[in-house]
This record gives sequence, C-alpha cells and structure tokens, in this order.
Amino acid sequence: MPIELAPNVFWVGAIDWDIREFHGYVTERGSTYNAFLILDDKITLIDTVKKEFVPELLERVAAVVDPEKIDYIVSNHVEMDHSGGLPEVMARVKPEKLFCSAMGKAGLSRHYQSDWPFEEVKTGHEISLGRRHLLFLETPMLHWPDSMMSFLKEEQILFSSDGFGAHFASSERFDDQTKDYAAYFHQLKKYYANILMPFGSLITRLLNSVDQLHLDFKLIAPDHGLLLRDPGKVLTAYRKWGAGEVEPKALVIYDTMWGSTELMAQALINGLIDAGAETLPYRLRRTHYSDIVTDVLDAGLLLFGSPTLNNTMFPSMGEFLTYLQGLRPQHKAAACFGSYGWSGQAVSQMNQILEAMKIKLVHEGFQCKYLPTLHELVEIRARGEHLARENLKL
Ligand code: FEO
Repeated sequence: MPIELAPNVFWVGAIDWDIREFHGYVTERGSTYNAFLILDDKITLIDTVKKEFVPELLERVAAVVDPEKIDYIVSNHVEMDHSGGLPEVMARVKPEKLFCSAMGKAGLSRHYQSDWPFEEVKTGHEISLGRRHLLFLETPMLHWPDSMMSFLKEEQILFSSDGFGAHFASSERFDDQTKDYAAYFHQLKKYYANILMPFGSLITRLLNSVDQLHLDFKLIAPDHGLLLRDPGKVLTAYRKWGAGEVEPKALVIYDTMWGSTELMAQALINGLIDAGAETLPYRLRRTHYSDIVTDVLDAGLLLFGSPTLNNTMFPSMGEFLTYLQGLRPQHKAAACFGSYGWSGQAVSQMNQILEAMKIKLVHEGFQCKYLPTLHELVEIRARGEHLARENLKL
C-alpha cells in the first residue's frame, strides 16, 4: 500500500528485500527504491525505481490515482536504481513534462531516449503544482554529476535522492518507527562511507547552502531506506563525516600467508589497546572491504599489513587499497608493516599508494624477515602504543 507522508503526498516506492550486492558493496539488509507521488493540480511523480520493480511502483500509484493522470515526473538522479523504471513509466504515463537537471537530461538521453518532454531546472528554480510548489537544488556528484534534490515548500519535505540514504529494507517507512535504529544507522554510515565519502566537501557545501536558504525540514525523504521525521542525528553525522572528523580509533587492516604478518598485527593491536585506543583488527578476505571502509570513515589511524608475495604486496591488500583510493579518505594517519622472505617490496608499495592518496604516513614502515622474534614483537607492541598516543586524541 502507498504510505501518506503529508496530505496528498505518498510514498509509492519498492522494497528490495533480497539485494545483497550494490555496485561492489555488500547490502546485507537489502534496500528500498523510494519514489513519491504528489496529488495537486499537477499530479507529480518524483523518481521511479529499478526496472524490475515497476509493477510494484505502479500498483502503489494506482491505489491512489490512475497512473495515466500523472502530469509531471521529476527525475532527481540518472542512476539506474532510480531511472531504470523510467522508460516503462514514461510510455504508460506520457507526462506533460519531465523535470531534471541539464546533466540529467544528457544522462537520461544517453541511457534511454532523447525525445521525452524534458524541462531542465537549476538550483533555485521553482515550479507550481497548483496549491504547492517544488523548489530544485542541484547537488552534482551527490552521487552523480546529474544529481539534484527537490523541496516541497508548503509541506517542508526534502526529496533528497541518494543523500541521507541507506540500503535498508524494512516493513517500517520512518526513522521513528524502526525498532532497530542502531542497525539502520549502521547502514546509513555504510552507505555514506561507500558511496559519498569522496564528496565530503560537497556535503558540507550542501548543508551550508541549506542553512543559507533557511530550509526547515519536517521530513527528509531519501531514495533509499527510511524517511527521516527526526533527521537531527543524521544531519549531525553528515556534518561530521563531511568535515572528515575522526575518532580516537585505530584499524589494523592486514592479510597473512603463514602467520608472520598476523603476529605483527597482533602485537600492534595489543600496543594500540595499551594506549587506550578503540582498536579494530580486520583480516582481509574475512571481512568484505565495504564493511572495513565503514570503519575507515571515522578512524584516525590506519595500519596496513601485508607479506610480500612474488615481489609484490598480497593481492587482497592491492584490491582493498584500490577500492580505498577511489573513496579518498581524509584526515588519516597511517603506517605499513609486513613480513618477507628475501625481497620485501610490500611495505614500500603500500607506502607509495598511500602517498598517492595524500594520506599522512607517520612511520616509514617496518618489516620482519620470515618470522618476527620475541624481541621484535615487544618492539612492535611498543610502536603500536606510541603510534596511537602520537596520532590519536586519546
Ligand atoms: Fe541510488 Fe546513485 O543511485
């Protein structure tokens, strides 16, 4: 059934309970593709859903109004989890106008067809639906160049597209209804870390421009996950993540061949704990990189460990660093370590990648030949404690 968010404003989206992988990251709690219907003089649909969920969308719309009576469609974002259903919906509805950004028009034309009744809008552009008005806010790169948000002024609802979203399928639609807010918030953080982390400065700019426009929200309605009737905690978290603020938290991210690098990791972990740092060990290949990145988001210190295999770092570390590089983490201190037999290139290779990412290396890196001695392990533990005290606000 559709859910009424405000008088004559409905959630008409779809729930994807089964999705477990979303362009590379693990979505263990499924997702939703939220779409919204506004009944006014101009009946307006905001966003569609993934292609295979169109019947679910249209069934919800039809419970409120004949879909063919829709006058306007707003496409806030080209990515196919929101526009995949657009060709079928456009063919059925034949709306008078399709509102999107200039980049949205270009993207939709490339993906689908160019003879739709596009109406380009920019930040500040306002349209009348009759008794109510939609104001548009371009938000390029949140999450694609075409992205924008739409604000229903009279109801104070922000349709925020990917912003403030979470891959979280649930029977509840609102944040104040869920009995497991912590699980939802974890998915919100995971979403930010894996989708929006590269765009922290743009998030900060968006939040500042929202302040300047004096937009008060009764509801933030993202295209994924719960709708926010009580968005304070999420807005505070976005401000913190956007600014790259970190916690006194250290991650030891490593892989091991015969256990030597793991011995080094364990010594470091003990040293970090000695210093009082929140410490999270992650052995690669046992935890998916998208989950590790969720903790990278607000960690102040990252320690990377890899043995040398065939003159190179371990492949799992290469994969993880490639993923991390794209996410451009900010304000991290880092150091690398590892074991080796005869050549020992892993640490210098990891250092090079971290330098290219402009992550601050706080140690030149340390290695053990074949197996760390007891004396070396004592030294590594002390180094872990020192690194935590020097680089985290403990
Ligand atoms: Fe939910 Fe960038 O698409």
